[in-house]
Amino acid sequence: MTKCKICNIKTKQIISFGKMPISNAFVKKVHKNEFVYPLSVVFCPSCYMVQLGQVPKPEVMFNPNYAFFSTTSKVMEEHFKEVAQEIIALTKRKKDPFVVELGSNDGIMLRHIKKAKINHLGVEPAANVAKIAEEQGINVLKDFFDEKVSQKIIKKYFHADIIFTANSLLSIEELNSTFRGFANLLSEDGILIFEDPYIYDVAKLASFDQIYDEHIFFFSGLSVGELGARHSLQLVDMKHQDVHGGSMRYYLKKKKKNNKVSKRVKYFISREKRARLNKVEGYENFKDRVNKICVDLKNTLTKLKKQGHRIAAYGATSKSTTLLTYAGIGPKLIEYITDNTPTKIDKFTPGTHIPVKSREYFLKNPPSYALLLAWNHKKEIIAKEKKYHKKGGKFVTYFPKVTIE
Ligand code: TYD
Repeated sequence: MTKCKICNIKTKQIISFGKMPISNAFVKKVHKNEFVYPLSVVFCPSCYMVQLGQVPKPEVMFNPNYAFFSTTSKVMEEHFKEVAQEIIALTKRKKDPFVVELGSNDGIMLRHIKKAKINHLGVEPAANVAKIAEEQGINVLKDFFDEKVSQKIIKKYFHADIIFTANSLLSIEELNSTFRGFANLLSEDGILIFEDPYIYDVAKLASFDQIYDEHIFFFSGLSVGELGARHSLQLVDMKHQDVHGGSMRYYLKKKKKNNKVSKRVKYFISREKRARLNKVEGYENFKDRVNKICVDLKNTLTKLKKQGHRIAAYGATSKSTTLLTYAGIGPKLIEYITDNTPTKIDKFTPGTHIPVKSREYFLKNPPSYALLLAWNHKKEIIAKEKKYHKKGGKFVTYFPKVTIE
């Protein structure tokens, strides 16, 4: 029986994927002793949080070879520039604003805050990416943010006018401690802004590849409202984002009678309720839709291969570990995956052992079909690979259904 990580009550299972390797554990050599864990997703009927049934220990997920760098996409660079502009506008009237970012990675957002000469601090546990931010003059505290670290920051700096974090809260199992830290660190009228993949979009598209070891929580307005309320924080705004296959940006403030709550909060929460995301029944056909996509995709690729076509894939994403493993798609069907992350190139995908190759390799060895594993960057990749497309190369996508274009 799995208990909710937020309120410790009994959860209900939505789907189980069986044994799964660690999503970002690209291997240098193919070997049989890879670590695997049981991947499943459960729903809490009390706080509505969709979450992993079991989370592997952080030591097996974030090793020294951890290969995530934020600045690998032009669209994401632009996205975080816009976030910075919004934060700069929000702090304009403040005398000496202080902006804290959790999971500041290689400084993709904070570099703009630094440029605007605003007091800032990035909190980033991964030394390799933190170093890149520091080299640009960004202040970084190399630590995991929690209640204790929030006290440390207040002592050394100030209370925060803005706390921002993107694609990080979904990975923190001890989320109650993080939220206690937020409640400590926020100034009286400070704003906590965070964004993560939105469960409404995942449920609508059946985009189950968002489910892997690092994605522990799948937020909605419903669950964020409940989580905030447990820490005297109020959800005051929500803004939908197109990134990462559909994300939501949430805004929370210390609970006060005169907080202005945007109409968008009511709109998104009513839409979530209409989709029955406040009940496990809202997820009841998720598993069947996922299984259908997997069968259709494998059949399509097998047919193309039998016809003699070369098939590769585009983007060795973390999320594709769930897709490839669960659908049983490996090197017999996919010749290689192209990716622009230097630390992934010339390694093999976790579990399925498909070789990862550079973009140069893709340009020299174009396949007839490219399975678009980085589907969340579809626009950017299709624009970048116009020549491949023009010469007859096709992309295969699969959410909400298998499509060749
Ligand atoms: P990302 O969107 O971070 O997804 P995940 O969190 O599931 O890993 O990963 C995108 C991957 O795709 C990353 O490894 C970089 C790669 N990529 C390319 O190779 N070329 C591109 O043009 C883009 C946009 C991404």
